[in-house]
Amino acid sequence: MKTARAVQNLKPSYIREILASSQSDGVISFAGGLPATESFPLGLMQQAFTDLTQHSELFQYAQAQGYAPLLKQLRQSYEVFDSHDLLMTSGSQQGLDLIARCYLNPGDKVVVESPSYLGALQVFQLAEAELLTVPQLSDGPDLEKLQQLFETQSVKYFYLIADFHNPTGISYSLEVRRGIARLCQKFQVTIIEDAPYRELRFRGETLPLVSSFYPQGAIVLRSFSKIACPGMRLGLIEAPRDWIQQLIKVKQISDIHLNSVLQYVLLQLLTHPEFPGHLLTLRKLYRERHDLMLGQIHATMGDKVTVKPVSGGMFLWLTLNDVTGVDMMDLADKALKAGVAFVPGTVFTPQQNGLNANCRLNFSHSSEEDICTGIQRLNKIF
Ligand SMILES: Cc1ncc(COP(=O)(O)O)c(C=O)c1O
Repeated sequence: MKTARAVQNLKPSYIREILASSQSDGVISFAGGLPATESFPLGLMQQAFTDLTQHSELFQYAQAQGYAPLLKQLRQSYEVFDSHDLLMTSGSQQGLDLIARCYLNPGDKVVVESPSYLGALQVFQLAEAELLTVPQLSDGPDLEKLQQLFETQSVKYFYLIADFHNPTGISYSLEVRRGIARLCQKFQVTIIEDAPYRELRFRGETLPLVSSFYPQGAIVLRSFSKIACPGMRLGLIEAPRDWIQQLIKVKQISDIHLNSVLQYVLLQLLTHPEFPGHLLTLRKLYRERHDLMLGQIHATMGDKVTVKPVSGGMFLWLTLNDVTGVDMMDLADKALKAGVAFVPGTVFTPQQNGLNANCRLNFSHSSEEDICTGIQRLNKIF
């Protein structure tokens, strides 16, 4: 059967393919954006799972917006503006999909950074949006270039990841956050702020969301994949009330509602007295793995590569200093054969070209031993 035009235009997902290949025995994978499996707070959820049998109402059809006691708790903990509302989604990925279905027409212009999160690029491409790119500097998107785009194109949305960007790991400075909000307000561009890594800061001070400087023109996506477990598929959209009303309609058509059972478990987890301790442990673990990977790269690869420390999240962004005659995609294939997987930078661009000197390395998922062995294997390939 012939697929829809938008599906025909979709490129095969390199990440899905490399994740599949990197699951073979003996391959150390720095490719996926996977949390540390051993860090999942299963113990803190045990009682909630046991109690489920007392709650038959959780197994009935429910409201599309989400499980009311959880929504109430999240309103409080995220200090949601009175003018705003929440919608529970199946991971922030579904949040992106709902936004595209509800608010994007084919040909609408969406600015994304180069590089940006592949899953978002694919959602916008499926909606047949026109993707425009703004380069990323060390403290966030290039504001001059962003302004030029806003001045010359009728841009509808700016999709951004201000905290521990995927794939580069960087966190925007306060000045850049303010600057983006100012420009978006001036040119009436809606901000889509994706914040799945925000709670994973292991160094420095938490900075305000970009959206907090222009809340009336912003949608925030949150995820519980990185602080609980991705397999639970729980995420959240926060936006002005009337926008959420429209999104609820689309969500209901899409899947009636998110499963209430795991929303109940999430509420018990988030309100568990030991949950703050879980977050501290997680941040400590990721800081140690980050420091180890960075140290190993510097020790083995020296000035062959440039890689900067990050203050949170899960990724390092590596640049090969001399790429004469190098094809990073080809290197990734060779690396896989040598037993280590990473994702080439090219994959994170809308046209899948450019960024040939770069690759993304995940440090959250591998053990200390695997980080050391994996970096040695990578060094031989580079
Ligand atoms: C920037 C970004 N947005 C969204 C997602 C999807 O997260 P979720 O598991 O909540 O769907 C990811 C996953 O890695 C991500 O990196």
